[in-house]
Formats: sequence, structure tokens, C-alpha cells
Amino acid sequence: MTREDEVSGKKRILLVIGGGIAAFKALEVARLLRKKSYGVTPVMTEAAQAFVTKLSVETLCGEAVYSDLLSADQESRISHIALARSADIILVCPATANLLARMAHGLADDLATTVLLATTAPIYVAPAMNVRMWENPATQANRVLLEQRGVHFIGPVEGEMACGEFGMGRLASPEMITDILINSFARSHLLQGRHFLVTAGPTCEPIDPVRYISNHSSGLQGFAIAEALAQAGAAVTLISGPVSLPTPANVRRINVVTARDMLEATLSCLPVDGMIAVAAVSDWRTETEGQEKLKKGRHDLSILKMVENPDILAMVCHHDKRPALVVGFAAETEKLLEHAREKRLKKGCDWLLANDVKAGVFGKDHNQVSFLDDHGVENWPSESKKDIACRLVQKISTYFHQI
Ligand code: CTP
Repeated sequence: MTREDEVSGKKRILLVIGGGIAAFKALEVARLLRKKSYGVTPVMTEAAQAFVTKLSVETLCGEAVYSDLLSADQESRISHIALARSADIILVCPATANLLARMAHGLADDLATTVLLATTAPIYVAPAMNVRMWENPATQANRVLLEQRGVHFIGPVEGEMACGEFGMGRLASPEMITDILINSFARSHLLQGRHFLVTAGPTCEPIDPVRYISNHSSGLQGFAIAEALAQAGAAVTLISGPVSLPTPANVRRINVVTARDMLEATLSCLPVDGMIAVAAVSDWRTETEGQEKLKKGRHDLSILKMVENPDILAMVCHHDKRPALVVGFAAETEKLLEHAREKRLKKGCDWLLANDVKAGVFGKDHNQVSFLDDHGVENWPSESKKDIACRLVQKISTYFHQI
């Protein structure tokens, strides 16, 4: 944000234009954003300049194009680091397979990728490429890596491509890209001033220094919820069991191993406005933890006495510092709604999202949940865990605006 933007409250989008046939559509995106009073600073890759001229981009953005990392003239106007920091949001449009690959692997070999590496602003990418290039495992692996790091994908969509083939790979429409960016600005204040606690991932209960008891859980759903809450402007503390996921931007993370650690960390964070318990907490642990590895065949396994772990969600629901909104999850393998209804009442949480885990949700990108509250049940569509997180956060925002 520039000094003038700060005074006028104007939001600034850094538009990184990649080198593809769809580059000319970035001009329409710039025009639509400016029409809605957003400032648009253009950055072009060298390849982009083969598809659209700097003059066209400058005319539609109303600002000079930045394109060279090693230009003393451009650096003297604004350094690449200041440029990276000047944006409220960065949009890469069109994002080519090459640009996505360079972003995924942290290359900084031109101004566009350097700015993308140096920024702390949310990054949106609108890919456009041939369907085979989009479907190629290399591009898909780069997409997954980038998504895990919090990069938002807008499209691509299905349709006919410039090369004559049909399939997934067309740039999303300029209207769709603009709407998504504008909505994200609107969402970014919904939960400002609120603090949320999210538990995520599994817990691991050591049996001895080598073995442990745990549950299936990748942490993806909990991390997506923490990320969506932070994007809505909330302060978020994420208490996570052992998972290999990066911490979402603007989220404070506390790593724990056992259910007892998770309980202690949770209670130390109260009071908060809301808690979302997504963790797959191990219900049991062994009464004692062997100091040495239990050797096979030398022990009567009945010495492994199991005891129940504390129920973190139920304890928070009955705590004097109970948050205004407590949301639980239910992992069920049968009688989904019957068990979920019982669970919600037994634990005392306000809302519960019920999951049929036999449908194979562990480690998957998609999920299907039923939402239960005092009024009944809503069956949400099968969608990505990120979309479920956004749907939940939207509901949470409505709740906090009504109380
Ligand atoms: N939960 C918790 N502490 C536990 C067990 C579960 O906080 N010791 C929370 C989970 O994070 C989730 C909800 O309670 O939000 C339900 O978890 P789930 O595993 O579905 O149910 P359990 O309580 O373990 O009950 P059961 O195993 O009998 O289905």
C-alpha cells in the first residue's frame, strides 16, 4: 500500500502478468478492478511482453509496468522488496505452467518471481495453459505444493483452448477473477477483533520410546479452517498434533504430541471467542509409558493397560471460560446422524460437523459433512476441505454478527 493508498483507504492489487496467450485477458481484469476503485500495479514477465505490450498494460492499469529486476531505473522508483510489500493482494494472471513451477520451487530469477517470494500478501493465481500441461503430474504437484502454502487458485475452467483442444486449462473469466478478489477483500474484516482456537491433526500416545497409539488424520481440514479464519481477520491459535503441514499465514501455531499436551495448550488459551475442535484426539493411552523398548515375546501384552484420555472438547464446553461458540467434529463409521446428534448433546457443543469416515476422507482433498445445530441438520455438498472451511467461516461470521 502506498502512502496515498493509506490516506484514501484504497486497496492495491499487484497484477503479475505471465507469458501466455491469455495475457490479453489480464487487461480486462485490470480494467474491471480499476472500475471498482482498486489500484492496480502491473508486473510483467519477459514472456508476457511477447503477448501484450507494456503500453497497453500501462494504459489500462494507469501505472507504469515493472518488469526488470536488474534495472537501476525501476529499482530507484521502487525497490523489488517495497514493491512486494506495496500490495494488499497479488494476482498472477495468467499463471503459466512455468510460472507456477518457478513459484512452487522458490525461484527468484526475474522481478515477478522475486516479488512473489518476498511478499507477505495473499497470493491468487489464475492459471491458463493447455489441458495436458495442466493435467501433467508435475503441474499438479506444483499446484498441491502452492495450495499447501496458502496460494489460492482461481480456475482454470473447462473449455476450448487457443490451441484448439478442449478441456481444463482455460483462464477463468475476468469477471469471476475480479469477483473472487473483491469477495476476499470483503471477507478479510468479517472476524476482526475475534480470537479463535482450532485443534487439528492426530494426537500420538507413546507406548514406549518406539511405539505409539494414534488416529488417522492429515490435519488438512483443521489447517484449512485456521487459514480461513485468519483470512477473515480473526486472531487464530492452531494447536496441532504431529502433521507435516506448513502453518497458514497469520496463524499462531502450538505443536503438541499427546492428548494431555493438547488439553493443557487448549486451556492455557482460554478465554477465546470460539473453538473449533477438528483434532482426531486419541481416546486412549497406555496407563504407563515404557522407558525402554518393550521386547517382542518377552512381555505379556495384558500389562498394557489402557486408560481413557481427557475429552478436550467436552471439557471446554463445560469450562467457566467456555467460548461463545464451540464447534466439534464427529468421525463416524455407521449411523452417522444418530451418533452425531448424540455426540453434540453429550459433549455440549453448539455446532457439530459430522463425517462419514468410511467414505475415505483421511488425507484426501475433498470431504462431505453434515452440519448439526439446535435447529436440525444441513447436508453440505461434497467439496474441497478449503471450501468447507470457507462455508463454516461464513456461518461463524454470521453468528458473531448476530450476537
Ligand atoms: N475430541 C476431543 N477430545 C477427545 C476426543 C475427541 O476434543 N479426547 C473432539 C474431537 O476433536 C471432535 C469431537 O471431540 O471435535 C468428536 O471426536 P470423535 O473422535 O468423533 O469422537 P469421540 O469423542 O472420540 O467419541 P467416539 O470415539 O466414541 O466416537
